[in-house]
Amino acid sequence: MIRDAKWITHPQNKLYEPVHFNRKINITKEVRRATLNITSLGCYYAEINGHRVGDFILAPGFTSRRRVQYQSYDITNMLSYENDLDVIVSDGWYKGKINFNVDNGKEELKKALIAEVVIVYKDGTVEKILTDEGWLCKKDKLRMAELYDGEIYDSLFEDSYVSAAPIDYDKKKIVKQEGVFVKEQETLDPVSIFKAPNGDTIVDFGQNLTGYFEFNVLAKAGDRVEFTVCEELDKNGNFYNENYRDAKARFEYICHKGENRYKPILAFWGFRYMRVDSFPVEIKKENLRAIVLHSDIKRTGYLESSSKELNQLFSNIIWGQKGNFLDVPTDCPQRDERQGWTGDATVFCKAACYNYDVNKFFEKWLHDMRLDQGKTGYIPNIIPQTVCWDWSTAESSGAVWGDSATIIPYQMYLTYGNREILKKHYSCMKKYIAYIGSVTKEKYLWTGCDQFGDWLGLDAPSGSYRGSSNEDFIASVFYRHSVGIVCKVGKLLGKDTKKYEVLHERITEKLKATFKEYKTQTECVLALYFDVAENKASVAKQLNQMIVENGNRLKTGFVGTPYLLHALSQNGYCETAYKLLLQDKFPSWLYSVKQGATTIWEHWDGKNEKGEFWSEAMNSFNHYAYGSVADWVYEVACGIKPCEDKPAFEKIVIEPHPTDLLDYLSATLCTKFGKIVSKWYHENGKIRYEITVPKNATVIINGASHKVKRGTHRF
Ligand code: BGC
Repeated sequence: MIRDAKWITHPQNKLYEPVHFNRKINITKEVRRATLNITSLGCYYAEINGHRVGDFILAPGFTSRRRVQYQSYDITNMLSYENDLDVIVSDGWYKGKINFNVDNGKEELKKALIAEVVIVYKDGTVEKILTDEGWLCKKDKLRMAELYDGEIYDSLFEDSYVSAAPIDYDKKKIVKQEGVFVKEQETLDPVSIFKAPNGDTIVDFGQNLTGYFEFNVLAKAGDRVEFTVCEELDKNGNFYNENYRDAKARFEYICHKGENRYKPILAFWGFRYMRVDSFPVEIKKENLRAIVLHSDIKRTGYLESSSKELNQLFSNIIWGQKGNFLDVPTDCPQRDERQGWTGDATVFCKAACYNYDVNKFFEKWLHDMRLDQGKTGYIPNIIPQTVCWDWSTAESSGAVWGDSATIIPYQMYLTYGNREILKKHYSCMKKYIAYIGSVTKEKYLWTGCDQFGDWLGLDAPSGSYRGSSNEDFIASVFYRHSVGIVCKVGKLLGKDTKKYEVLHERITEKLKATFKEYKTQTECVLALYFDVAENKASVAKQLNQMIVENGNRLKTGFVGTPYLLHALSQNGYCETAYKLLLQDKFPSWLYSVKQGATTIWEHWDGKNEKGEFWSEAMNSFNHYAYGSVADWVYEVACGIKPCEDKPAFEKIVIEPHPTDLLDYLSATLCTKFGKIVSKWYHENGKIRYEITVPKNATVIINGASHKVKRGTHRF
């Protein structure tokens, strides 16, 4: 049992400086099976006899500080007679800058390792090697590893071993691996290497990605390799990474004589371009490649259309997900955040569930949410909760951000039929509802609290990040929505939900009585989509008019955007929804595509037509939130949507909504019953549908229902 081992550290444990542990293992008998159970405070990289153990990058992952996952690796085939087990531990998420005001002096906050090697011999005997004072440690050639800042590796550096020091850290926090491993997924060769106008040498990988790079070079001892990365070039074509804020996003390497081949082990970057600050020779494409990292989630959804730009948007959404599903759902992978912002995950989770199987991925994250939920029931706005800035430790939730507690588990139920997660999360949901009740200034609404509002809405007053939609209205709508989910979940679990039904009714009445007029696009969208408008037809007309008068363009932020096209198509304005989807003038999804985006931008106006940036203060070019539009394409445009009464596509109803604005559109979704394909196209002035289902299904075309059997059907 790993808990029998001791937590060990380097007696002089410095911030950002990785520790190298070593244990010699001599084998004298024949081995049947050998296992390494291991975890760390910080991130670890383990090797046996110079070969990496396992393929989990940045193990043991990012969890609540209330637990640390351990991993088990089968190392039977890695052992010989004399072995070196080497483990390097960096600050990682545990105590790097992401938790930068954690007091480094505290014993329990040192980076540390705990491990056991269990060897079962062929003669039936068992030997256990546990971390203790007998292990050695030293400073590593990896002189610095920090998630925001990057790595410094000195291949000429040598240190001598000292005995590891035990530390006291609660071993009850050690739990089995629950999440999905982060793994290397694919590699990209440079598309071009060029000199920028200011003389910098820049490598372009052609794709904004999350991961690291590998290089090789013949060098003299002491030669340097130095890179700094960025996502975008400025309007003159020069390197620009001011939007990384305090993340240095650097890499430095000191060569030994001969061939140097290296890839980082304890850092990752979000980047498309790389500035070559130093390289021993003139850098060539063969010297370098990028390696894409993300959680090992399986792709399940594919979208394709007749529009090249729209296909690029679909690709950008996928890359946005890849880049931000790195053990936890992050806001962005590049600047000094990379946090599990709950609101971003709330709005993107539906699209995420279509694109990939993210059931296990979210189960782990939701577990961390339960652990980090505050005593009063609030959900920290960042999960796992870090102590990076004040807002991450504020003991409150913003609407939509906090509603991740209800919306995400319920989506896991809808897409995957995951009832277990509802059971596990029900009490967290109820506590969250009680929290809102305890902080609101007016009963049956959620008012008078600090909110993020319609974050980054384009109708924000100047200098503000918050769109001008009424924040009390937004909060109250989501309060009602979350209570509604609690009612549904409670019923599914056979609980008495009377109290929540009454609460839901009261909130509905009060919402309708209090907020009768909707002044912004987002207010109209929420009133329609969440069913709180008294007169839906007139609100829908108003919303449509607002959009048309704005030149078929949106103004919505994080909260309005995910529901905007749904609110339109559900209320008779499907064509307007398509016009927004296919709009390529600023602001729109395809505007960023026209500007060369390869991922989803945080801001509609991240870069203007002159190539000027919005501001360096908050301007990520890889933020998945607006990628939520993919869920409309699956659900409405192609009509593939789970049914609430029989989730996970146990019942299949397909209802596509074609348009004349595209020649064809198709969606493919792999479900546990098999593949669903919904495609429509124009042929000789008619619309043709081609629908494949893995079992009996209903296909609805122009309002007419058709019962179909397993197979492909044409209409
Ligand atoms: C993050 C967002 C997040 C927001 C909330 C930002 O800094 O990048 O995506 O949801 O803060 O205020």
